[in-house]
This record gives sequence, structure tokens and C-alpha cells, in this order.
Amino acid sequence: MPAGTDERHCMEAALHFRPSLGSGQTFRGNMAETREKKWNLALRYSGVGVVLLLAATMLYFYFLYPQRELGPEQPILFSHRLHAGVKEINCKFCHPFAERSRNPGIPELQKCFFCHEHIITKHPQILKERQHYDTKTPVPWVRIFYVPDHVKFNHKPHIQYAKLDCTNCHGEVKTMDRLQKVDFQMHFCITCHQERKAQLDCWLACHH
Ligand code: HEC
Ligand code: HEC
Ligand code: HEC
Ligand code: HEC
Repeated sequence: MPAGTDERHCMEAALHFRPSLGSGQTFRGNMAETREKKWNLALRYSGVGVVLLLAATMLYFYFLYPQRELGPEQPILFSHRLHAGVKEINCKFCHPFAERSRNPGIPELQKCFFCHEHIITKHPQILKERQHYDTKTPVPWVRIFYVPDHVKFNHKPHIQYAKLDCTNCHGEVKTMDRLQKVDFQMHFCITCHQERKAQLDCWLACHH
């Protein structure tokens, strides 16, 4: 063996010598191995992390995001999903004027107590309702759908003659806890009037 090589080995041994491990070689081997293990572990955990992150994002969009598009909060947490959806109470039971007049109307509290005189009478929301009822103070329901003052809209012809469904204009009310506002712009009326061949000189009829 040439002397130079020996010297280099010596140098290397000295460089990598760690007293606690006895041999630089094993130390490096262990290091590489643990590093590899750690790396694998890290990869696995980051994999889990990515999956969790995706799941969280999906949950966010599925459960939380739509709530941002929920309509305004009402003074009493009344749910159309529960009443019209799950309990299948007819829209017209609570909005009886829909086919007879300009305005379907918001039900009187009396109508609520048709059922809530007996059902969940101790529910905090029902107690709140009770208070309004007993003191004869109307519930300040937040208005959701409206057209500008200069527009003349009447439910009657749309429901009685055109046989439209509430969902045509109000969306899937049955699935909503809190009703969402729909912005009734003029094209909303016109597009449908075009499709259904309803009157289009409408703007004589619809505007005051
Ligand atoms: C048990 C009674 C009840 C039933 C059944 C019911 N509603 Fe209502 N509705 C209400 C009450 C109370 C409000 C006011 C609070 C609110 O907006 O959630 C309301 C509000 C509304 C509004 C919004 C009015 C506005 O502009 O502020 C629309 C539209 C509506 N209901 C449509 C429907 C349709 C369509 C159905 C059937 C699928 C239906 N409702 C069934 C009680 C009822
Ligand atoms: C035809 C019967 C009926 C009418 C009318 C009715 N409800 Fe209900 N309501 C129910 C039933 C059934 C439940 C579910 C009770 C339960 O959870 O056991 C309920 C539940 C509720 C709840 C509790 C919801 C929750 O999150 O637990 C509220 C608040 C409520 N109703 C408000 C109203 C208001 C306000 C009106 C009037 C506009 C009304 N209800 C009219 C049958 C009715
Ligand atoms: C052709 C579209 C259209 C259809 C179909 C329709 N609505 Fe409406 N609805 C409107 C418009 C537009 C308003 C706002 C009216 C206003 O500002 O005067 C409104 C307002 C309402 C309101 C607010 C309260 C009131 O008395 O004005 C209720 C409640 C309502 N609609 C319930 C119903 C129900 C229940 C049905 C089905 C039986 C129905 N609507 C079908 C367009 C429609
Ligand atoms: C989803 C479809 C649809 C939408 C949305 C709609 N309409 Fe109509 N409308 C009709 C149809 C169909 C008729 C014809 C009814 C009939 O047979 O007399 C009609 C009739 C009318 C009439 C004539 C009523 C009469 O007394 O003869 C007026 C006014 C009117 N609509 C105004 C409006 C206004 C304002 C809006 C928007 C806020 C609107 N409509 C939205 C379908 C629609």
C-alpha cells in the first residue's frame, strides 16, 4: 500500500471519528438509516397531512361555505327545510294568499301555535315566539324577496294562470334553513316571459 493512501485513510478516520460511537463508519451508516427512516416517516405523515387538508377543505366547502350564502338571520330561527321539507307542510298552509292576491303574506303567529301549542312548547325559540304572541308584538321578520317600488308584481296570475311553482322564482325553499335572497333584476322577469311567451310589452303592464 502506498504511504499516501494510508495517510489519507488516517485523515479520514480522524475527520469522521466520533468518540462516543467508536467508529465513524457505523455512525454514518446509522445516520443515513435514521435519516431515511425519518424521511419515510415524514413522507408518510405529509401524505396523511395532505389527505387531512383535502378532507378539511372539502368539509369547509360542503358545510361552511354554503352558509355564507345563507339568507339573513331571522328573529326566530324558523326553518323552511324542517317545516316544508321534513314535515311536508304545504306552502299554502302558511302563505295562503299566494294564488289569490298580490302578496302571499307571512303567517300570523296564531298559525304557528296551531301546532306549537302542543309541540315543543318549551323550546327556547317557541318561548320567544310565545312572548311575541302574548304581548301581541309582531315578529320583525327580515324581508327577503322584493321588487323595486316601480315594479308591479302580482303572484296571482303567475300561480293561478301560469301554474308556476314557487321554486321557479324562490328556489328550493324546502331545502333551506334560512331563505336566500334572489336578486330579482328586470331580466329575471323578462327571460321567463320570453320563454313562456308571456306578455313582453310587459313594461307597460309591470311598471307604474
Ligand atoms: C309553517 C309555516 C310555513 C310554511 C309551511 C312555509 N313557510 Fe314560507 N315563510 C314562513 C315564515 C314564518 C316566513 C318568514 C321568515 C322567513 O323568511 O324564514 C316565511 C317566508 C317565506 C318567504 C320569504 C318572504 C320574504 O320575502 O321575506 C318565501 C319566498 C316563502 N316563505 C316561501 C315558501 C314556500 C315556497 C313554501 C313551501 C315550499 C313555504 N314558504 C312554506 C312560514 C312558512
Ligand atoms: C303544522 C304544524 C306546524 C306549524 C303550523 C308550525 N310548526 Fe314549527 N315545528 C313543527 C314540528 C313538527 C317541529 C319539529 C318538532 C320536533 O323537533 O320535535 C317544529 C319545530 C319548530 C322549531 C324548532 C326547530 C329546531 O331547530 O328544533 C321552531 C323554532 C319552529 N318550529 C317555529 C315555528 C314558527 C315560527 C311557526 C309559524 C310561522 C311554526 N313553527 C309553525 C310543526 C309546525
Ligand atoms: C313568477 C315568480 C314567482 C313565483 C312563481 C312565486 N313568487 Fe313569491 N315572490 C315573487 C316576487 C317577485 C316577490 C317580491 C314581491 C314584492 O316585492 O312585492 C315575492 C314575494 C313573496 C313573499 C314575500 C311576502 C309577501 O307577501 O310579499 C312570499 C311569502 C312568497 N313570495 C311566497 C311564494 C309562494 C308560497 C309561492 C308559491 C305558491 C310563490 N311565492 C311563487 C315571485 C314569485
Ligand atoms: C318563471 C317565469 C316567470 C317569471 C320569473 C315572471 N313571470 Fe310574469 N308571467 C309569467 C307568465 C307565464 C305569465 C302569463 C300568465 C297568464 O297566463 O296570464 C306572466 C304574467 C305576468 C303579468 C301579467 C299579469 C296579468 O294580470 O295578466 C305581469 C304584469 C307579470 N307577469 C309581471 C312579472 C314581473 C314584474 C316579474 C319579475 C318580478 C315576472 N312577471 C316574473 C311568467 C313569469
